[in-house]
Amino acid sequence: MRGKYLRTLMTMGCALAMTVPAVAQTTGGATVTVQADRPGPVMNRQVFGQFAEHLGHGIYGGIWVGEGSPIPNDHGYRRDVLDALKAIKVPVVRWPGGCFADEYHWRDGIGPRAKRPVKINTNWGGVDEDNSFGTNEFMGFAERLGAEAYISANVGSGTPAETSEWVEYMTSPNGSTLAGERAANGHPAPFQVRYLGIGNELWGCGGNMRAEYAADLTNRFAQFAKAGGKDKMLKIASGPSDEDYPWTETLMKLSGKYIDGLSLHYYTRPRDKDWNDKGAALGFPESEWATTMRNTLRIDEYITRHSAIMDKYDPEKKKWLVVDEWGTWYDPAPGSNPGFLVQQNSLRDAVVAGLNLNIFAHHADRVKMAAIAQMVNVLQAMLLTDGAKMVKTPTYWVFDLYKPWQDATTLPIDLQSPLYRNGDVTVPAISASAVRDTAGQVHVALVNLDPHRAIPVSIGLAGVRAGTVSGRIVTGTAMDAHNSFEAPDVVRPVAFTGARIAGGAVTATLPAMSVVVLDLR
Ligand code: AHR
Repeated sequence: MRGKYLRTLMTMGCALAMTVPAVAQTTGGATVTVQADRPGPVMNRQVFGQFAEHLGHGIYGGIWVGEGSPIPNDHGYRRDVLDALKAIKVPVVRWPGGCFADEYHWRDGIGPRAKRPVKINTNWGGVDEDNSFGTNEFMGFAERLGAEAYISANVGSGTPAETSEWVEYMTSPNGSTLAGERAANGHPAPFQVRYLGIGNELWGCGGNMRAEYAADLTNRFAQFAKAGGKDKMLKIASGPSDEDYPWTETLMKLSGKYIDGLSLHYYTRPRDKDWNDKGAALGFPESEWATTMRNTLRIDEYITRHSAIMDKYDPEKKKWLVVDEWGTWYDPAPGSNPGFLVQQNSLRDAVVAGLNLNIFAHHADRVKMAAIAQMVNVLQAMLLTDGAKMVKTPTYWVFDLYKPWQDATTLPIDLQSPLYRNGDVTVPAISASAVRDTAGQVHVALVNLDPHRAIPVSIGLAGVRAGTVSGRIVTGTAMDAHNSFEAPDVVRPVAFTGARIAGGAVTATLPAMSVVVLDLR
């Protein structure tokens, strides 16, 4: 399903020659200047969205265990998972796929569960899909989290009528036959669907389409998907992956006026030549730490260039760039079903998460929503479960640290950073972003990706009068430090006591391999 990347990489090969991202270089320590007197755009809370696909134990076992399960549950939803996700304020959940979405027929997932058809999940392991988690179950999940719903419609193997009826089933106020069916299935009030994805990866698993054909289909599906009620439903077209700029150009040109946003998918792989050899999640050499960092930072250039194309058609930046699949993708965990995309999550993933979130903050004018892939048990997951056990990953804890970024005003920063070098990889060692939260407090996030060196950072504050600084840190002693069911607290935030404030400036020494969030008062 990812063969398209190969074509893209070959045609756009020069983009891979990208070297050090544009950060001024220093030797020794780093310098950050926070321009609090020049507030930037708001970083939508939706950027902290998550993706939950019918894939492996992403849904079944991970979120949904059913009402009869001995695992403590609230009407079938795991209580431990609900509680953990509520604590990080998940703003939006994308469902049901992914590749799964373009083979999903919504009628299979409504009505009495015992009568729902059993299908084969042809994308992910060829396992039975009993459809016991369908539309009402997903909406119940989102409701319990207090999250918005981002539904991916089936464009690849479905019809505009099917999508239009699904939207009507979900959103129409009482009166129509479909609204009556929804009521009979237990939900008389309309569901709120804030976002509709028009297919997924239409260039790949969504139907191997040319951009022109995808654009025509996008316009057709968008035309007939009409939400009932007063609430606007934003329509997000299936956008490019990586550096497929021609896809963005075509979609914006032919579909720009019919859509509200365009998705972007980008996965970080330590080894990025062959999708069958991506590198291990644990026990990797430093060279793969380094390539993971370099490859993660590439998304900055991808967003910049896709945004520039969008600017041509949408100079007022009304259309959203929605990074609705991002994160690390490693080789499957030893002994796991390769179709289930199970991988451990380590300190390296925490650092990757911090880098991505800082980059999204710098692009808050255009990146208005995102979804990490994925929420539970799949790829760069927040949570891992096994039967009744659950563990929070290092990535989860980074999302916890960045909660103040949700709906905060971004503050521009100037950054001068020393470099981290390994083999042919050279990248800035420090990444940073800053915000003023909705209560007016300023926060600065700092990532030190150097696996060996603690780095002193001095932070100048323009337009902030702060008297105290406190913070939290996620770090560890090994590149692949991780949490397991047996040892769940190896990587978790602790108070950061290494920052000082004097004369309106902050100094801190960032330990190697760390993500720090400072709170200024
Ligand atoms: O997240 C796993 C898969 O990656 C998704 O189903 C697909 O959209 C992408 O190729």
